[in-house]
Amino acid sequence: MQTVVSGIRPTGKLHLGNYFGAVRNFLEMQENYRSYFFIADIHSLTTHPTPGDLHGSVRQVLAEYLAMGLDPEKCSLFIQSDVPEIMELYTYMNMNAYLGELERSASFKEKIRTQKDNVNAGLLTYPVLMAVDILIHKADFVPVGKDQAQHLEMTRQFGNRFNRLYDVDFFPEPQAYSHTGELVKVPGLTGQGKMSKSGGEGDAVFFDEDDKVIQKKIMRAKTDAGPQEMNAEKPIEILNLFDLMGLVCENDVIEKFNDDYNNCTIRYGDMKKQLAEDMLKFVGPIRDRIREVKSDDAFLSSAAKIGAEKARESAVKTVKEVREIIGFRKFY
Ligand code: ADP
Ligand code: TRP
Repeated sequence: MQTVVSGIRPTGKLHLGNYFGAVRNFLEMQENYRSYFFIADIHSLTTHPTPGDLHGSVRQVLAEYLAMGLDPEKCSLFIQSDVPEIMELYTYMNMNAYLGELERSASFKEKIRTQKDNVNAGLLTYPVLMAVDILIHKADFVPVGKDQAQHLEMTRQFGNRFNRLYDVDFFPEPQAYSHTGELVKVPGLTGQGKMSKSGGEGDAVFFDEDDKVIQKKIMRAKTDAGPQEMNAEKPIEILNLFDLMGLVCENDVIEKFNDDYNNCTIRYGDMKKQLAEDMLKFVGPIRDRIREVKSDDAFLSSAAKIGAEKARESAVKTVKEVREIIGFRKFY
């Protein structure tokens, strides 16, 4: 059976982009793959959360994963810091990651710009830790959004370099996965690019937020003056709204608004109202479930425990083999 690994940093509530870019694939893959899905709490230390915030965010994402349908019996749903072998392999892999290539990573360059007063070494070696998350389970596939493609390329690079250095065929080459064949990019509501929790006020639709808030964000999404000629090309903010409709609305509804756009009779207010209505239909049941799960301590605890046990079993095995390959051999 092939193996899949993916993780999300616990830095807030999950939004539609996280769901369609990542979690929807997890749900499908847990049925047919040896699956490891985790909460990347060690990664989130790069931004120095307080202990209370960190714990609260991990709890939130754990409840959200479970509410969205991840099944602790079918996959290994675990918290990264529950698997200390990850840190051990991270140390080894850091010896074969070079300063130049780490400095060239797009995410590091972005952090240098946006997080000027906290350019810590963990940020620099973030791609190594991510590679370890993946390699430690010898993953074949990694379901992630488009923004993670470069990190995956680096993962392959680090794995292959280890194989070459020790002349072994140990780590497989993990490939990005999306059920559509192409990595997904869910646009944000403020028209600036991908939906993101750091995309500013009103950009993301979160699952764990009230109907009214979601409705308001959608009704405020930017539009233009409307098409001035038949079959006009759609500007980016209108394309974005159609993309979002593609995720939650029925095809005939989308076609109707598309026809309206093409013959210049579209009313953006009506379109956004429809989008909001269908969005609430989709988000509502998941949100209710998140709120139930969040207060179910016994469920959270048993899920995290089974996940940690399964993930450790696989991680311990890999690290033991890596130690032998590297040449750490016992004298006693
Ligand atoms: P954010 O950009 O909100 O900080 P993360 O970086 O924590 O989100 O992303 C976690 C996972 O969700 C990653 O696999 C990422 O590729 C995916 N993801 C996040 N936003 C989007 C989006 N707008 N479209 C598609 N996938 C996304
Ligand atoms: N870097 C990913 C993000 O920012 C999160 C992540 C960490 C991850 N380790 C991973 C994703 C391993 C897939 C596999 O979203």
